[in-house]
Amino acid sequence: MPQLVTDPDRAGTAGGALGLAGSSPATGVTQAAAAREVRRGVIAVGGGKGGIGKTLLAANLGVHLAQHGHRVVLIDADLGGANLHTCLGVKPPGTTLSDFVTRKVEKLHDVVSPTPVHNLGLVSGALDVLGAANPKYTQKLRILREVAALDVDVVVIDLGGGTGFNILDFFLIADHGILTVVPEPTSIENAYRFIKAAYYRRLKTAELAWNLRPLVEEAMNERSSQGLKTPADLIAFVERRDPEGGAKLREELTRFSLKLVVNQTRTPEEERLGCGISDACRKYFGIQMSFLGTIPYDDSVWQSVRRRRPVLLEAPDSKASRAVIQIAEALGFTS
Ligand SMILES: Nc1ncnc2c1ncn2[C@@H]1O[C@H](COP(=O)(O)OP(=O)(O)O)[C@@H](O)[C@H]1O
Ligand SMILES: [Mg+2]
Repeated sequence: MPQLVTDPDRAGTAGGALGLAGSSPATGVTQAAAAREVRRGVIAVGGGKGGIGKTLLAANLGVHLAQHGHRVVLIDADLGGANLHTCLGVKPPGTTLSDFVTRKVEKLHDVVSPTPVHNLGLVSGALDVLGAANPKYTQKLRILREVAALDVDVVVIDLGGGTGFNILDFFLIADHGILTVVPEPTSIENAYRFIKAAYYRRLKTAELAWNLRPLVEEAMNERSSQGLKTPADLIAFVERRDPEGGAKLREELTRFSLKLVVNQTRTPEEERLGCGISDACRKYFGIQMSFLGTIPYDDSVWQSVRRRRPVLLEAPDSKASRAVIQIAEALGFTS
């Protein structure tokens, strides 16, 4: 059953695994139609902790893509600290994700509310139901399924901080899982923790799907004695014992990749951090990470938050806005 979680065919066309590629054909012509052909998919923005720019990036990516003809829905999945609506200048909507989770409404589509930006819908976070901060597995699968069923071009999911299973599962179903980090040692530490947690979560779903659990567990237990240090060592261990299963595991985990954005950079040295982290991931863990770009520290960002407007609308020519647009381009969304 957990197909969505275990097999998010991320290597295929964006959105393919989630059925988004089958969205209804464009009705208009011109730019909107063309934009829809460019790329569809699910983008999830996560990171080790709060206050590192996840909401900034999610909201403004959503605005930018909507401005360029994509039909976009932003989902506030920070179930503990939902605030996406404030950043967009929308009053707390009457219906939220919690109404869907508690089955007051059946379809995720019914809790999408409009925003001041044409083409941009919002699913507000569950502000009111404490229990929804930790949905059960079946509830989570229902949300994931409905994300796939949304009839839009792009879904942008703004995740809460940390490495809880719920957060990781949303991150892992995305076509583009973007990890944000700020240039501080604690944040970098959290980023590595996030990468590891996401990798092992993917490993777990793969091992369950192919009955490789006993072998993987054995490998994990032998870690210190056999010198298994990296994910690549672990795959090699499983491959030696079960070549067929190991090959499947290798294939699945080779597809595991993340994208990285470094936010709040102030110096050229901080701008280089992204390459350093992605190189380290490849070299030491054998994990593919593409560095999408940096967002500089920019007063326009906090000023626009105070005015409850996305920086892209409030200060379109600011350094931060230009950086978000470049990140959208690095993701493959051309304007
Ligand atoms: N690039 C930046 N320049 C200046 N301030 C920033 C920047 N990124 C984030 N901030 C500040 O940090 C706050 C938290 O950012 P936010 O996107 O809400 O983080 P998260 O969603 O990760 O908790 C913002 O309200 C803003 O004041
Ligand atoms: Mg946030």
